[in-house]
Amino acid sequence: MTMRSILLVVLTVVICNVHRSYSATFTLKNNCPFTIWPATLTGVGAPISTGFVLASQGSTSLDVLPPWSGRLWARFECSNSGRFTCANGDCNSGQITCNGAGAIPPVTIIEYTLAGDGGKDFYDISLVDGFNLPLSVTPDRAGCSTISCPVDINNRGCPSELAVKDTIGGVVGCKSACAAFNQPQYCCTGNFGSPSTCKPTNYSQIFKRQCPQAYSYAYDDASSTFTCPTGANYLITFCP
Ligand SMILES: *[C@@H]1O[C@H](CO)[C@@H](O)[C@H](O)[C@H]1NC(C)=O
Repeated sequence: MTMRSILLVVLTVVICNVHRSYSATFTLKNNCPFTIWPATLTGVGAPISTGFVLASQGSTSLDVLPPWSGRLWARFECSNSGRFTCANGDCNSGQITCNGAGAIPPVTIIEYTLAGDGGKDFYDISLVDGFNLPLSVTPDRAGCSTISCPVDINNRGCPSELAVKDTIGGVVGCKSACAAFNQPQYCCTGNFGSPSTCKPTNYSQIFKRQCPQAYSYAYDDASSTFTCPTGANYLITFCP
C-alpha cells in the first residue's frame, strides 16, 4: 500500500469510530419499602434528569450518551411545603430537580466514567462522603462485576458520633470520619495527602467491613474501582 492509501484507511477508521455513537441506559429500581428521590450530577457530557420521584418497587430508565461522567444517589424522607427538602441526600435546590447541585453528605454515591480510558466504563460505589442507603450496580454484560453496598449501615454499625438523625430520632445517615472530625488522617489531606500516607482508619474500616466493594476512604482504589467494556447498560437497585 502507498502512504496515501494507508492514510486514507486510518482516516476512515477514525471517522467511523467518531460517528459510531452508542447510548447507555441506567435503570434505577427502588426496592426500598419507602419512596425515594434519585438525583444525578453530570461532570462530563450531556446532563440527564437531575432528580425525580421513585415509588417503592418502581423503576425508571435514564439514557446517557457516552462519553459521560457523573454521580447518582438517592434522597429519602422528602417533603414539599413550599420548598422541597429531604432528611437525607438533599441537594438544597429547593426542588425535586437538583439542577447541577451536588448531594449534601452523608450520602452513598455511585460514580461513573462511561467510555473512559481504553474503551472502558469505570464505576464504583463511594462511602467517602458517608452512607445513606444500601444499593447495588449490575452491568448487563457477562464478565462485568455486580457491585453492592448491601448493608443498612445506618442501623448496623454506624457509631453514634457519626450518626445523622431525622426529627423523630431515626438514623438516616452515617457521616464519614472526615466530615465528623475534619482531621487530616481521615480526610487524606496535609501530611496524609497521598496513597502511601493515607491508610484505612478505625472509622473507614467500619464502612469497609459492611461494604467491602465500596470506597471507604479517598485512596481505597485497589478494591473499589470496577470496569466494563463501553456499551454496557446498568441496573441500579436501591435497598437490594
Ligand atoms: C477510633 O480511634 C480514635 C483515636 O484513637 C478514638 O478516639 C475513637 O474512639 C475510635 N473510634 C472507634 C469507633 O473505634
